[in-house]
Amino acid sequence: MSTTKIPSLNDYSATSLQSFFGILTSEFESDRSQAHNRDAFEALRVKWVGRKQGLMNEIGDLLKTAPPEARRDVGTQFNAFKKLVEAQCDFEAVRDEFHATMAQAGFPVQREVARGIDITLPGAVRTPGIAHPLLQTMEAVVKVFHQLGYSTSLGPQVETDFYNFEALNFPPNHPARDTQDTLQIAGQSGKPSRDRLLMRTHTSPVQIRSMVAGPPPLRIVIPGKVHRNDAADATHSPIFHQVEGLCVDTNITFSDLKGTLDHAMRALFGSAVKTRFFPSFFPFTEPSADVQISCIFCGGSGCRKCKHSGWIELLGCGMVDPAVFASVTEERRKLGFDDNAYDPARISGFAFGMGVERIAMILHGVSDIGQFYSGDMRFLEQFA
Ligand code: DAH
Repeated sequence: MSTTKIPSLNDYSATSLQSFFGILTSEFESDRSQAHNRDAFEALRVKWVGRKQGLMNEIGDLLKTAPPEARRDVGTQFNAFKKLVEAQCDFEAVRDEFHATMAQAGFPVQREVARGIDITLPGAVRTPGIAHPLLQTMEAVVKVFHQLGYSTSLGPQVETDFYNFEALNFPPNHPARDTQDTLQIAGQSGKPSRDRLLMRTHTSPVQIRSMVAGPPPLRIVIPGKVHRNDAADATHSPIFHQVEGLCVDTNITFSDLKGTLDHAMRALFGSAVKTRFFPSFFPFTEPSADVQISCIFCGGSGCRKCKHSGWIELLGCGMVDPAVFASVTEERRKLGFDDNAYDPARISGFAFGMGVERIAMILHGVSDIGQFYSGDMRFLEQFA
């Protein structure tokens, strides 16, 4: 606020008084228009009506020199000006008047909320929700396959031993089960082992459920939550997400698998990405492979993210093992479908499974999986 000089007053004629108070009023209004918060209002009040150094005292002193015949006029005008200034310096009064005007114009003003707040602060903004980054990633993967003509299948998280393991060619006590330890539902020792319930360790059981439910051709993607007895660390979580895929038809070959996944990786990570397939093992596919993509951080020349190999391992896949088709056929027979629809002599298929967290971490450069589950808005807002 600049300092204000009181205009000089040569005589007490009506014109002089009008110009005197006119100048003061516009000086005051200019100060007032710059007051945007409670502190500024206080400074305004001290400057104009402060008990000791307020301009109003000075003006009053000057007007005391008025001759007796001018006193009445001078007094009336001075009092009117003082009243205006005092009213306009009162933060609460100005704020209440502002709220009243707003309310009259139809804006919702809650008086009890409005009281004691700085009316010049920005209003409360309601942020729109977004899909969680893991859901966004899962949807992105699913979309790539939808565009290839795949549809989505879903299955339960509480699964039977049969669907999670046995039908996928993990016999009871097979060592491959050790890598997929999980929570078992209590109180089932009376049941045959194949009917015992557990938290599914992968989305692969939905392959079996989908094949049992209908004949080929089948092209499905299966997004979902899975559970494992894994200690949480920077790259592991006991609950995580997968997207599974299954394609069964006549004449499906390993080339189809390679072409499909090569396309999917380019669609997800960019057209410059290369894929390579390494021999691997899964009980339910034969042959099985691990798929690696060229490192999206260094383009394949080697960096810390790819442990200087130029490649990042991303998913498992393979040709559906005939033993899996045999389990499906047996199950379908029990349900009355005796069409031998999954005869490995007539049909073949491929399957794949990938971790959603791992893909999201690579896509967004996230180094700690725990961030996805933290609920920390500062992290989540970055995906809006
Ligand atoms: N179910 C496997 C896992 O969780 C991933 C997987 C590998 C799924 C190969 C497949 C596949 O369908 O063919 O480790």
